[in-house]
Amino acid sequence: MIRICMVGTGYVGLVSGACMADFGHHVTCVDINAERIRGLERGEIPFYEPGLDRLVLKNVQEGRLFFTTSLAEAFKDASVVFIAVQTPMSGSGEADLQYVMKVGEQIGALLDGYKVIVTKSTVPVGTNRRLAEVISTHLKTPGTPFDMASNPEFLREGSSIDDFMRPDRVVIGTETERSEKLLRDIYRPLFLLDTPIVKTGIETAELIKYASNSFLAVKISFINEIARLAERVGADVFDVAKSMGLDKRIGPKFLHAGLGFGGSCLPKDTNAIVHIAQEAGSDMSIVRAAIGVNADLPGRALAKAESLTGGLQGRTVALLGLAFKPNTDDIRSAPSLDLVAGLKTRGCTVRVHDPAAAENFKLVHPDLVYCRSPYEACEGADLVVLVTEWNQYRQLDFAAIAAKAAGRAFLDCRNVYNRPHLEAHGFRYDCFGRAGQTSAPA
Ligand code: UGA
Repeated sequence: MIRICMVGTGYVGLVSGACMADFGHHVTCVDINAERIRGLERGEIPFYEPGLDRLVLKNVQEGRLFFTTSLAEAFKDASVVFIAVQTPMSGSGEADLQYVMKVGEQIGALLDGYKVIVTKSTVPVGTNRRLAEVISTHLKTPGTPFDMASNPEFLREGSSIDDFMRPDRVVIGTETERSEKLLRDIYRPLFLLDTPIVKTGIETAELIKYASNSFLAVKISFINEIARLAERVGADVFDVAKSMGLDKRIGPKFLHAGLGFGGSCLPKDTNAIVHIAQEAGSDMSIVRAAIGVNADLPGRALAKAESLTGGLQGRTVALLGLAFKPNTDDIRSAPSLDLVAGLKTRGCTVRVHDPAAAENFKLVHPDLVYCRSPYEACEGADLVVLVTEWNQYRQLDFAAIAAKAAGRAFLDCRNVYNRPHLEAHGFRYDCFGRAGQTSAPA
């Protein structure tokens, strides 16, 4: 059992802390947000993540998981301190490290014996070195020993617990045997699963995270560009992706064409790596292209919507799904935000439904018609747009929608349905990259 201090109870910190406690470690999560900590002590999870409430409750009840607002208290007996605070994107696209560095100052002031300080937040290459300097300059007793380490996370929102418990790999960037051993001991339960533990230097570990997320983004943008070409040349991106994915060198995942990538990670990390490369006198031209392809997708959806309705001006549009992907209430950089903005400028009435993200969306766009079911959202709609492929939208009752909607147009931004199915219910249909599947006029 290792005593761990987890700084930050956002997505990464809370999931990692709860999972490490479940591995049998003693974990104290600390956050400056007192309201959040009080809620967590009552078992209230501040965001939607399947299974996290049960995992937190179980580990609290079994006496391995603790919450506090006092870094000093969480820090006191810990041998390892994870930093999992936010690194938002600044106006110029680089990661804003003010929260990480502030924690570094506090750690320096508190450190009174050897500990390993690990960054779990996604931080630009070189941050651990800078952080070590910040800690060193704030030490009460100069020379107090500590080691830095980088341990990037690869959790996906919506399936993070499974991703933590059954990862494809664990990356640990360390520089001393002592810190490597401590990190290996934390992840020891995964040895039973034969999980590869990739031991690297610190800069390499930092770069692995950006390279991985950027590659995923490039893969998505690549297939979205193929989708666009497929429409022009009369091909079907669905079959192209399926066939490409059967090649083991390519793989089937992250080849779903549609509205592209959103969320708090891929958009932020692609912009950050472009910035990191610029600073280093290099260039990430492929990633820049992927960002550009992605940025065009909501506009393409609006053009399709124009064509399906014969003009969007003043129409009523139903949006099914607001979250950036299913199984989350996260709307950060969600394509739905651009769609809503585009519909508003065209004077549309926007009716929306989402199983989890409506409350978050309301904070940004309070003036939409928020509905309790997808069918209520379709009432009086000239056009229905499937934006996020939640499971509950995969088996829609189109007879019921036809009975409520004013028009007969369906835009499938996630390629869930097909033209014959929709036309059987009298709907014009369009999707992304499937030439034979669209009934919109060319
Ligand atoms: C992503 C990475 O997948 C995780 O490995 C990483 O740990 C995480 O970022 C992070 O850095 O914290 P996440 O943002 O939760 O995870 O979401 P993904 O499942 O990767 O999806 C990203 C976006 O791509 C979503 O908007 C999704 O709809 C879109 N997507 C995904 C596609 O458009 N097509 C695909 O084929 C796959």
